[in-house]
Formats: sequence, C-alpha cells, structure tokens
Amino acid sequence: MSLPPRAKSPAKLVSRYPDFEKVQSERAPFDEYSFTHTQTVDPAWRPGSGANDPSWRDHETVHIDPYAGDRTPLDNYKLLVSGIVPRPIGVVSTEGPDGQRNLAPFSYLQIVNHDPPIFTLGFTMGASALKDTSRHVLSTRECVINLVSEHFVEAANYTSIDAPSGVSEWTLSGLTPAPSCKVKPPRVAEAVFAVEAKLVASHDWFSPSTGEKTGVLAILSGVYFHVREDALNEDRNVVDFRVLRPVGRLGGITYLRAREGFEVLRPTFGKDGEKEKNGVEQNGAEKNGVEKNGVEQNGAEKE
Ligand SMILES: Cc1cc2nc3c(=O)[nH]c(=O)nc-3n(C[C@H](O)[C@H](O)[C@H](O)COP(=O)(O)O)c2cc1C
Repeated sequence: MSLPPRAKSPAKLVSRYPDFEKVQSERAPFDEYSFTHTQTVDPAWRPGSGANDPSWRDHETVHIDPYAGDRTPLDNYKLLVSGIVPRPIGVVSTEGPDGQRNLAPFSYLQIVNHDPPIFTLGFTMGASALKDTSRHVLSTRECVINLVSEHFVEAANYTSIDAPSGVSEWTLSGLTPAPSCKVKPPRVAEAVFAVEAKLVASHDWFSPSTGEKTGVLAILSGVYFHVREDALNEDRNVVDFRVLRPVGRLGGITYLRAREGFEVLRPTFGKDGEKEKNGVEQNGAEKNGVEKNGVEQNGAEKE
C-alpha cells in the first residue's frame, strides 16, 4: 500500500502525558479483581472456516522495511513493543561481583523450553553503556526472574528508574528481598512466582546501520522455582492465574490485566474427521474465495 510521506518521529522517546496525574484522575479507579470465562468468539466455528470476522478484507496492508531510509530504530522499537503484545514482565534481581544488588523490570522475557526450563531476556543498551542488570547477569551468570502481579505493579514499574550506581531500587520501590536457594541475588518476596536462573549463553546485537552494540540476548536456565502456596495446586504443577494476577505490557506505558478468557479445544486430526471433511469441502470453495486452490491447499495441509 502506498502512503503519503510521514512526519519523522523524534529521535528520543517523549512522555505522552505532560500532566499524567490529571489524566489519571479522570479515569475510573482500578476495580476489584474478577476472572470470567466466556464462550469462544465463535462457538460454531468449524475446520476450514478461517476468520470469524470478514472485516479484515476491508483494509489494505502497509508493508514496512525496517531498514528503509526514512525509518529510525525508535520507529521499529515503538512498532514492535506495541505490536508484539501482551508481554510478560519480570522484575529481575541481580547482584554485581561486588555484591551490589539491582532490581529492574524486563518485558523482552519469554519461556522457550521446559525440559530444561529455558528463558530468554533481552537487554537493550542504556544511555551509554550496558544496563546494570545485563552487566551483572553477564559477569555473575545469575539472576532471579520475578513475575509481576497486580499487587506490586507500581513498585515493579518504579524499579525501572535510572538510579545512579549505589542507589538501591530495592529501597526506592519498597520491595522485600527474600533469600534465594541456588543463586546469590535475592528473590522478590512479594512475587507469586519467581524463577532462580543461571546464564547458559549470551549474544550481542549490533545495529546494521551504525555498527554500534545495541543489545544483549541472555539465555537462562531455570534452576529453582518459588510459588506462593495459595497459587499452587496440590500436584505442584499449576500456578493459579487468579492468584498470580499477571500484568502484561502493551505498547508505551500501558499495562494489561488478565481478567477474561475463553477455552479452545486443541484439534486432533481424524478425531473430528467429519467436521474436517466438511470444512475442506465447503470452506475451501465458499469462504476462501480461491475455489479449487483453496480446496487443494487445505486438503494438503491436513494430510
Ligand atoms: C515494564 C517495563 C519493561 C521493560 N522491559 C525492558 C526490556 O525488556 N529490556 C530492556 O533493556 N529494558 C526494559 N525496560 C527498561 C529497564 O527496566 C530500565 O532501563 C532499567 O533502568 C534498567 O535498570 P538497570 O540499569 O538497573 O538494569 C523496561 C521497563 C519497564 C517499565
């Protein structure tokens, strides 16, 4: 899709709310937690039916080259953190080789394997150097990832402060250190779920345009778990999201609550054979609008 030239975004992130307190005061208060399971979006959905809302057809797609001349890394940052959402947030606790403790939130966080338990953390560069968390993780190879819940989200957010070296985010946030078992940095006692982790590997990233180092990927192995007792089932294998009350990160400074969900059954090929057959025959021709191709492609994919 061709678009008119766009205004260049500022080189630096600027606050969207010069008077955030005023904006906040005009919003509804944070209401009591509840979780509802609703039906799926379309309980009548059948194999081959595709999207349940055809309005996507009314819109063209904008194709973006991340390295286009008029595009800055900040454009890509804003696009990616607003488009890859919601992301879990972990307040990461580390200790430097000198014993200096550090706490900061990270949403470039994901579980990528469970046997062994493996997590990834993405550290972008600070103003001029590696962030304290990444320096500590790279040198001591240890950290604790504390999943952020509603009941300490402000404190967790506050740990992102650009405190000078020697000023503790533990004190500034008011969060409580509790001893870890297999790593030196303490875990956050308030966290419903915390993972002690050890560094397995790291990879440095460099800007293709400037050649400068722009970030570090840390691959971490989970070596010990801590779960609040009322969030854990008897078999010790499920964390209750109603107790965890996870907070996700959307774009900008917006956080997300998890309060409504729906369950969708996993498909097993052959189990719903009749439905699949119908789906291939009917929807390939009718819905996809690609007549024969649709039928052939859908059929091939399912075999
Ligand atoms: C919710 C949230 C998520 C964040 N996620 C990341 C992230 O994934 N990677 C990153 O480098 N910085 C992230 N930041 C910014 C860091 O927390 C911030 O730069 C912090 O000051 C780093 O602290 P440190 O230098 O003590 O490690 C995030 C901030 C917030 C509030």
